[in-house]
Amino acid sequence: MAALAVWSSLRDRLLAQPAFHRFVSAVPGLRWVAQRQSRRLFDLVAGFTYSQVLLACVKLGIFASVREGPRSLQSLAADTGLSSRSLDILLRAAVSLELLEWRSAPAGRVAAEGNSLEQAYVGLGMLGAVVAANPAIQALVRHHEEVYQDLVDPVALLQDPEQRTRLRDYWAYAHDGIAARQGTAALPEHAALSVMPAASVSRGLTADQVAAYSELMAASQPLVAEQVLAAYDFSRHRCLLDVGGGQGAFLSAVAKEHPSLRLMLFDLPAVAQRARQRFEAQGIASRVTCHGGSFFDDPLPTGADVVSLVRVLYDHSDERVALILKGVRRALAAQGGTLLLAEPMSGTPGAEAMGDAYFGLYLLAMGKGRARTPEELFGLLAAAGFTKMQSIRTRLPLQTGLIRAYASPQGAARSS
Ligand SMILES: C[S@@+](CC[C@H](N)C(=O)[O-])C[C@H]1O[C@@H](n2cnc3c(N)ncnc32)[C@H](O)[C@@H]1O
Repeated sequence: MAALAVWSSLRDRLLAQPAFHRFVSAVPGLRWVAQRQSRRLFDLVAGFTYSQVLLACVKLGIFASVREGPRSLQSLAADTGLSSRSLDILLRAAVSLELLEWRSAPAGRVAAEGNSLEQAYVGLGMLGAVVAANPAIQALVRHHEEVYQDLVDPVALLQDPEQRTRLRDYWAYAHDGIAARQGTAALPEHAALSVMPAASVSRGLTADQVAAYSELMAASQPLVAEQVLAAYDFSRHRCLLDVGGGQGAFLSAVAKEHPSLRLMLFDLPAVAQRARQRFEAQGIASRVTCHGGSFFDDPLPTGADVVSLVRVLYDHSDERVALILKGVRRALAAQGGTLLLAEPMSGTPGAEAMGDAYFGLYLLAMGKGRARTPEELFGLLAAAGFTKMQSIRTRLPLQTGLIRAYASPQGAARSS
């Protein structure tokens, strides 16, 4: 430990010296280190502009325009209504980010040449092809227009995390617990819980208040469902209860792959109603029962041998996660069963920034919750009476982590 501290402080002192930087970039064998570090730092500074290039391409429909084949700049100018100069700037930016690709390169700067519009064709780049094929990613890109407005002044948000934000209004259930705190301003959230009114605020949310976030979740759900279905075999089960199941996109994906599995969904009443309508439209309503309620106030339906919580826990504080997990354990008490947690996790190897930087700030703006490491989730699961916790590797841990745990029949649940 002491050796590590000495090494770290030596490294910090070296990295702070301009002479050391000059030395590293002058030595051929070490130059790549300096280049890599400066590139990473530059990307940190410039990241917002990259996001805005992507947003502009999505909003202007450029990916859709070039999806069927390369398009001339002239025809894209007509589609987007952009001037030659603006289109030139946007397309060059998108090409540099691998969103688009020149199929016949422009002769020079459009604005300077004036006539290169006809000569240049542009098609999808490696990353743009993924965006073009994926409505989920496009929906998330559009959503980030709001996210970044909340993050415009990160210091103000960090200093006053209780401030009103767009994300708090967007995720209407994020107000749960806040209403309770208003009457007990000095109390921390877990203390406020004990004085909460009988029904949480979310229970009464209207169809309008849940529509936008439920649509966004449904649009992005295929990215998650694909990972979970590839990593976990549901064929050993007879009935799956999806808690906080949104408008049913996860269950629809599971239903397709497992035609004999019975399905149940639990979500806020207005959301469960949306799910009901979707299952009817998909012709699978006879396989699914939808239950409306709040997992803070109402018992979960019983009878399932596997329960899923997909992108649910990271929205809530530890105290509230404990309540949700206890509710799940009670629902599994009679026969025992399996719990699956699927959500982005902190400390994901190779994607550390996703959990700690991205979700750290996103959930700060939303007003509650945090991405947790698997070990933190294991601790919360154990405290709620679950056993045999195990991480299951997904193909793309960036999209979702997966944990399985067991609830033994009866005894453990009765004691709570
Ligand atoms: C981030 S969304 C995830 C939805 C879905 N599982 C998915 O991955 O697409 C969280 C879900 O939890 C639901 N939810 C929030 N608070 C709830 C509560 N108190 N009781 C029941 N469901 C709740 C929301 O309505 C929403 O559908």
